[in-house]
Amino acid sequence: MPRPILATIHTGALHHNLTRARLAAPDARVWAVVKANAYGHGIERVFEGLRGADGFALLDLDEAQRVRSLGWRSPILLLEGVFEPRDLELCSRLDLWHTIHCNEQIDMLATHKTHQPHRVFLKMNSGMNRLGLRPERYRAAWTRLNALPQVDEISLSTHFSDADGPRGIAHQMAAFNAATQDLPGERSIANSAAALRHVTDTAVRGDWVRPGIAIYGSAPDYPQHDAAHWQLQPAMTLATRIIATQDLVAGDTVGYGSSFIAGQPMRIGVVACGYADGYPRHCTTGTPVLVCGTRTRVVGRVSMDMITVDITGLHDAGIGSEVTLWGRASNGALLSIDEVALAGGTVGYELMCALGQRVPTVVQV
Ligand SMILES: Cc1ncc(COP(=O)(O)O)c(C=O)c1O
Repeated sequence: MPRPILATIHTGALHHNLTRARLAAPDARVWAVVKANAYGHGIERVFEGLRGADGFALLDLDEAQRVRSLGWRSPILLLEGVFEPRDLELCSRLDLWHTIHCNEQIDMLATHKTHQPHRVFLKMNSGMNRLGLRPERYRAAWTRLNALPQVDEISLSTHFSDADGPRGIAHQMAAFNAATQDLPGERSIANSAAALRHVTDTAVRGDWVRPGIAIYGSAPDYPQHDAAHWQLQPAMTLATRIIATQDLVAGDTVGYGSSFIAGQPMRIGVVACGYADGYPRHCTTGTPVLVCGTRTRVVGRVSMDMITVDITGLHDAGIGSEVTLWGRASNGALLSIDEVALAGGTVGYELMCALGQRVPTVVQV
């Protein structure tokens, strides 16, 4: 019998969350962001749930090829554009739209031989200082691109650093609007947090929104708001079983480093999931977990293949009992990946993306 750990990808939840994103920006088209192998869920596994999107946005040419091999004929956007000149050949062959974030990418395009002019998204660095041309250089880049026979249509994009937090987006919107106000072309500006939190601003919604985390059912601004607040459903459940139990007396310690010391008699379950499965090692004592759909806590350190959980008072729990690390338990109880991530000092994004290679994964339609 294989180890009992299993990840389940919920097609219905993906579909629901995509619809939710669409409702937030009803007049915009939706890029489903599927970079990093669909935030760890697997491109092939999420495809059915997200096929209602208007396009798929990702980074990797290999991932773009995988989306095309699934039969997707609608737009695909490379969020970082090309990395070297020969990537443009694949863009021509697979009809990929691509971001232009620097003058070097314009140079590459200018020498590219194609019969099929490209649709490009010219990215502005409106304040995040990661990718994009600064506002004062943006217009010159647009003019250069506009003169190239290799370019068909130019859309305008930028990305927010603080759409999920108190600093907000006003300073970046002001920079973007000032530099683009008389430029033609579609706009793509909003990630999940901007689409959900700044919903009343049509300029922010633009022509294309780019939700990622929300379509996987995680709140972009947790803990200020949780997934339930945004009516999002978890697209991934990570579940396993108890493989051993131990009865402790006061003073007994648990796991490596003896970081947990029992204050009174208690019962613990040893669970088949560890950091090699993607469960964060920083999730120590107190991290929430569901046993038979009932909320309890991790005790002691996470090890490579196991964690230990408190099952004192959970009289039905024993060897073989269901343990939900995040997502939805069989009895319908939910444990948000955001809550687990917070206990481990990280974000839901990282947990999804770090799901262990060895974890068998199924799709639930
Ligand atoms: C350019 C771009 N757009 C959209 C997204 C989606 O962001 P989120 O997952 O926060 O919705 C990302 C993700 O980092 C991104 O890099």
